Amino acid sequence: MVTGGESGIGRACAVALGRSGNAVALTYFADEAAGASAVSEIEAAGGRALARQADVTDERAVEALFAAAEDSFGPVRALVNSAGLNMTGTPIEAMSLAQFDRIIRTDLYGPFLTCRRFARGLAGGADGGRIVNISSIHERAPRAGGVDYDSAKGGLAQLTTTLALELAPRRIAVNAVSPGMILTPMNQSALDDAAERACKEAAIPWGRAGTAEDVAQAVMFLLSPAADYITGATLTIDGGLSLTVAMGA
Ligand SMILES: NC(=O)c1ccc[n+]([C@@H]2O[C@H](COP(=O)([O-])OP(=O)(O)OC[C@H]3O[C@@H](n4cnc5c(N)ncnc54)[C@H](O)[C@@H]3O)[C@@H](O)[C@H]2O)c1
Repeated sequence: MVTGGESGIGRACAVALGRSGNAVALTYFADEAAGASAVSEIEAAGGRALARQADVTDERAVEALFAAAEDSFGPVRALVNSAGLNMTGTPIEAMSLAQFDRIIRTDLYGPFLTCRRFARGLAGGADGGRIVNISSIHERAPRAGGVDYDSAKGGLAQLTTTLALELAPRRIAVNAVSPGMILTPMNQSALDDAAERACKEAAIPWGRAGTAEDVAQAVMFLLSPAADYITGATLTIDGGLSLTVAMGA
């Protein structure tokens, strides 16, 4: 199961999983054609996939999503939470409750609802499963104007480790990846503006922004047998960006 599977990191994860022989249920939010295109890409590579519209903030939609996936493919054994919204860039004095609420609901309630349904779906059957939450380096490294996003991702970090502890006896591993600057629609302005991209990439020690595939490879590792015994971990994928916070002072 990959939420946000029609775009960016989620799509790269869905395609990588499908190519590796897994049946993939992916969600799209507003762009049905993008969901269908991700399914086609997986099927063209010989894989099996379905796309379903779902708002991850909606409890009933999450229930229906898992039910559809289980009907088609059986119990969901791996969950990648990639659906998310970026910060609004609003100073707290100007931030409405609705703005704050929307980001918290999408980036934190969403993974809560899908993780809960995932754990319920495996209850009573053979234990064992994997969850990977797509967090952000901003779970720890703050940005002014990002109190909505940074709070949500900080909460997601705690959700990840708490569930890792809680679900360990059932051999359900819960890990996260923390990307830095990744070239997806979430960074559309850097994709559109070469000068902005060059300026931002100059701040990254590795000298380039990351790709959705860079993140997907790390997610695939955390979902693979090679990652057995890893739980509660966060893998940073940022070309060293988050190491630079104390430079220059
Ligand atoms: N791109 C980056 O630089 C970057 C860096 C760090 C973390 N991330 C995280 O990676 C994840 C994926 O982002 P991306 O870069 O692929 O961006 P993206 O915009 O390409 O993908 C986000 C996806 O989330 C979906 N979505 C938004 N609200 C939703 C909702 N309520 N219900 C269901 N789906 C919803 C969108 O439709 C889209 O498919 C996000 O959680 C984001 O916070 C991205």
